[in-house]
Amino acid sequence: MKRIMAVGLCVVWAISTALAQTAQPRPASDHVFSEAQAKRGEDAYSASCGSCHGDDLVSHDAEAPSLTGARFKSQWTGKTLAERFSVIRKTMPSTNPGALDDQTSVDILAYILKFNGFPSGDQNLASDSGVLEKIVIDAVPKAGG
Ligand code: HEC
Repeated sequence: MKRIMAVGLCVVWAISTALAQTAQPRPASDHVFSEAQAKRGEDAYSASCGSCHGDDLVSHDAEAPSLTGARFKSQWTGKTLAERFSVIRKTMPSTNPGALDDQTSVDILAYILKFNGFPSGDQNLASDSGVLEKIVIDAVPKAGG
């Protein structure tokens, strides 16, 4: 009897370990950034991005896309934060790509998510690609135009 129990426990342990290793992606609506971080991102956005993408994230520039509304739905939803981070970090501002460091870029990413209705939480979002790769932008909580 003891032996059967021991075998049973081993099976349970093996299954739970396997489940832990195939962790599900985390949705971006799961409080992945902090309020203070989004605020820092807002300031950096105004300084480096708003001139082209608009202070309210609605672009008034024919070439620069909006970062909210229908364009957010088509270009952001379903992507990982790693993909969006890399666009910002490596290609923006388009006149001086790569000018912002990892921290500033991830702060701006947090601000754009917050602006589009994603809720903040207690933790800062790290600029670690391993972390960002596992967070997927889910449906926009606040309906955009
Ligand atoms: C000089 C104008 C200009 C500035 C400043 C600028 N951008 Fe852009 N941005 C563009 C243009 C033009 C595009 C579209 C062409 C491209 O992708 O290169 C773009 C594209 C983007 C995209 C992809 C949008 C999509 O719909 O997929 C993101 C994200 C973005 N910019 C974020 C930023 C952020 C964040 C900043 C501030 C750090 C910034 N941009 C600063 C002009 C600008």
